[in-house]
Amino acid sequence: MTNTTTSPQMEERSYERFPLARRIEHLTMLLSFTTLGLTGLIQKFPFNAASQFLIGILGGVDTVRSIHHFAAIVLMFGTMYHIILLGYNLYVLRIRMTMLPVIQDGLDALQALLYNIGLRKSRPQMGRFTFEEKAEYWAFVWGTAVMGVTGFMMWNPITSAKFLPGEFIPAAKAAHGGEAVLAVLAIILWHMYGVHIKFFNKAMWTGKLTETEMLHEHPLELADIKAGLPDREQDPLKIRQRRRKFFPVASILTLGMLAGIFGFINAEDTALTTVPPQDDQPVEVYIHWTATPRNTSTPTIVPSLTAIPADTATPFVIPSFVTWDANIGPLFQLNCGECHVDDDKGGLNLSTYADAMRGGRSGAAFTAGDSAASPMIIKFESGDHTDFMLSTDDLALVKAWLDAGALEK
Ligand code: HEC
Repeated sequence: MTNTTTSPQMEERSYERFPLARRIEHLTMLLSFTTLGLTGLIQKFPFNAASQFLIGILGGVDTVRSIHHFAAIVLMFGTMYHIILLGYNLYVLRIRMTMLPVIQDGLDALQALLYNIGLRKSRPQMGRFTFEEKAEYWAFVWGTAVMGVTGFMMWNPITSAKFLPGEFIPAAKAAHGGEAVLAVLAIILWHMYGVHIKFFNKAMWTGKLTETEMLHEHPLELADIKAGLPDREQDPLKIRQRRRKFFPVASILTLGMLAGIFGFINAEDTALTTVPPQDDQPVEVYIHWTATPRNTSTPTIVPSLTAIPADTATPFVIPSFVTWDANIGPLFQLNCGECHVDDDKGGLNLSTYADAMRGGRSGAAFTAGDSAASPMIIKFESGDHTDFMLSTDDLALVKAWLDAGALEK
């Protein structure tokens, strides 16, 4: 090795890597990302003891969700700023697209791998952005896009369901949570290792790298700087001309994005909620009891519901389409199954549709299309059925089923 020009006394030169605006942008993203990760993961794993502890400290799951939404809004603004700045740098300042992946990055990655497992003597020499940094940047871009789209769908499920099948909303929730775990792990493993462990890189805070650090991390960029490449004079007149075109376009774009963010936040207030765990407390649920019509037979609409007595405190609503499979089968199984199986009581088996329609000892029990003429109804209404009676509501349902044609499906 030849040692010629190094002089340790010389004050080491440093190079600007990130201007202040970029560092503020990074800090904003750092804070919103961390908040999102934290408030998101405790919602994804709400039964975990640590999650419950944190949710408790933060004042309940609703507050956690509000914080999560606030951090998401910060991230949206950060993304908008990034897009506008990118446009300015590329169009007005004509800065080279050093973040674009190129074939060399693949070769660099291969060489780094070979170096790491001891098959190459040196690490690859890289420019302004190493393949690791590019991978991280693009992963962040992709991750933000996925989180933005799936986050929108969870925040505005009704709007989303107008454009997509309903299944996409739980799918979006799953993707949102999965991508979140991936992103947090990527930051912990890839980012932590790359900028804090492998070499403690303070450039995002100080904005600078020393000459030695440049030589280690970005030798090709250093060579470019030494060759005077990035400092090439730009024509101020041309810059001014391009600015004049850029600003109106950027303003319209900004307004469009602001409108987009506003819509994202305010489209509806029905975001999916995380139900906090309830111990020993009965939870009231609402089940909309409507059979899904299938095309096995011509559907008949229940003629009249006025005959049903409105007797109890909770009004009972007869579904508009009553079938054996959806309503009557389960009802009979629950109420009559104990006695009417295997043709025993009165020779009537109510386990399946076919059995029920076959009837009992006295013949058919049900007259399709006419509840008043159905022996079963007559038997029940005259109080002639041992000592077992159906509730008024249930009997009304059976009648509705009969009047609608006693359909199986
Ligand atoms: C506790 C037992 C028991 C339950 C529960 C029960 N039944 Fe019966 N059912 C009987 C007995 C016993 C007979 C025969 C004696 C009679 O006809 O009253 C019978 C007879 C019948 C008959 C006349 C059969 C024939 O051909 O003579 C019909 C119809 C009937 N039940 C319908 C029902 C329906 C519908 C349900 C449920 C909503 C039901 N039963 C629940 C015991 C029961």
